[in-house]
Amino acid sequence: MAKEIKQIIVPDIGDYKNVPVIEIMVKVGDTVAAEQSLLTLETDKATMDVPAPFAGVIKEIKVKVGDAISTGSLIMTIEGEGASTIVASEPPPVATTPVPATQAAPPPHVAIPSLTPATAIPHGELTARKSHASPSIRKFARELGVDLSRIKGGGIKGRVTKNDVQNFVKAALNQPQAAGGMPGGMAVLPMPVINFAKFGEIETRPLSRIQKISGANLHRNWVTIPHITQHDEADITEMEIFRKKLNEEYAAQGIKITPLAFVLKAVMTALQQFPDFNASLDASGENLVLKKYFHIGVAVDTPEGLMVPVVRDVEQKGIAQLAKELAELSAKARDKKLPATDMQGGCFSISSLGGIGGSFFTPIINAPEVAILGVSKATMKPVYVEGAFVPRLILPLSLSYDHRVIDGAAAARFTTYLAQVLADVRRLAL
Ligand code: COA
Repeated sequence: MAKEIKQIIVPDIGDYKNVPVIEIMVKVGDTVAAEQSLLTLETDKATMDVPAPFAGVIKEIKVKVGDAISTGSLIMTIEGEGASTIVASEPPPVATTPVPATQAAPPPHVAIPSLTPATAIPHGELTARKSHASPSIRKFARELGVDLSRIKGGGIKGRVTKNDVQNFVKAALNQPQAAGGMPGGMAVLPMPVINFAKFGEIETRPLSRIQKISGANLHRNWVTIPHITQHDEADITEMEIFRKKLNEEYAAQGIKITPLAFVLKAVMTALQQFPDFNASLDASGENLVLKKYFHIGVAVDTPEGLMVPVVRDVEQKGIAQLAKELAELSAKARDKKLPATDMQGGCFSISSLGGIGGSFFTPIINAPEVAILGVSKATMKPVYVEGAFVPRLILPLSLSYDHRVIDGAAAARFTTYLAQVLADVRRLAL
């Protein structure tokens, strides 16, 4: 059947006259399917969708939102192959928009067999639940799982439009980033926008590039990984005596050995002992990838923000070598000379605030790793030994772990083992 341009007119809508067009769902050039809603009319009792009589391409739109139309009004012209059920008839009088004079002959029109059934509208009520949305918009919202009563309509008389539904969905999708919203009914209030200048003098400083990148990663890790932090203490009195002695020996070589080098080595032995901590969940979340290498990241505080260079093959290196590499990597990080490759491949991370102060804290897991050790400042504490309190140097440890992979008993065993190794560093040689 040859394609021809036909007029689409409003069929018999009973006694209604001058019914306003409240929404036009198509534009010129759109390809529409048969029965696809083209526009919506609103009487004081109901909305009615005018469907396409057959599939085709919309050539002209003769009305606009707000126009009042009646039975027989020309609303659009369409190019397509008329279905056999559509009977063309003589063009009816055009109520609102005449066919342009430039048109040589008016295209044949098609009568629309029926209007899409509509729900009665209690006129004047503002919520979409009370029908302030056309049937096509209700269908659209239903398909997207959107509750129309939650949308404030931006159309005529507060009617919810397709645009309103789309904006609502967009806002909902952006919510987790913008406002910390959570799926599963756990949505939280958006962060209030506050003009702090109202309360006193302020200065606005942009976040550094590193802060922005690490901030986004920290946020993702914090909200997506179920964190638990196991705290423990290690008696490092003997280790400290040994460390000071080593420092004297290595001073000539310019190597400074801090407690962190011992912690690094002790963590490696704990990872060997508890392989689930030296692992990552794979992309499916159904398998644990156990690593046979021991690359450990160390958080370094730089003026630009936090960076985590990785010390590789810790099991192959001695304390002095680890201390030297730690110093080199942290200097490179602070001088902004750390290549990306030096920050990749880590199996586990250590965040040490020991040189600064504080006791316990909750480090955030550096995904896809499954655990991180926080180390705080060692202090002298009275410890009850063989019937008496004796002064001992106690190192606070805070192990955050991914509870999907590691259970609490394993975490307590890990920190207990770690504390034993640090209390007696001869165990590092085992
Ligand atoms: N308890 C007591 N003293 C400690 C200690 C601890 N746990 N850890 C380090 N120290 C001492 C060191 O022995 C050193 O003492 P000294 O100057 O008398 O010789 C001093 O604190 C400073 O050590 P530092 O230079 O910080 O070396 P480090 O090897 O302990 O740490 C870095 C190296 C790179 C980890 C550290 O400089 C750093 O950046 N820490 C911050 C990491 C961070 O911001 N983490 C938070 C992430 S949320």
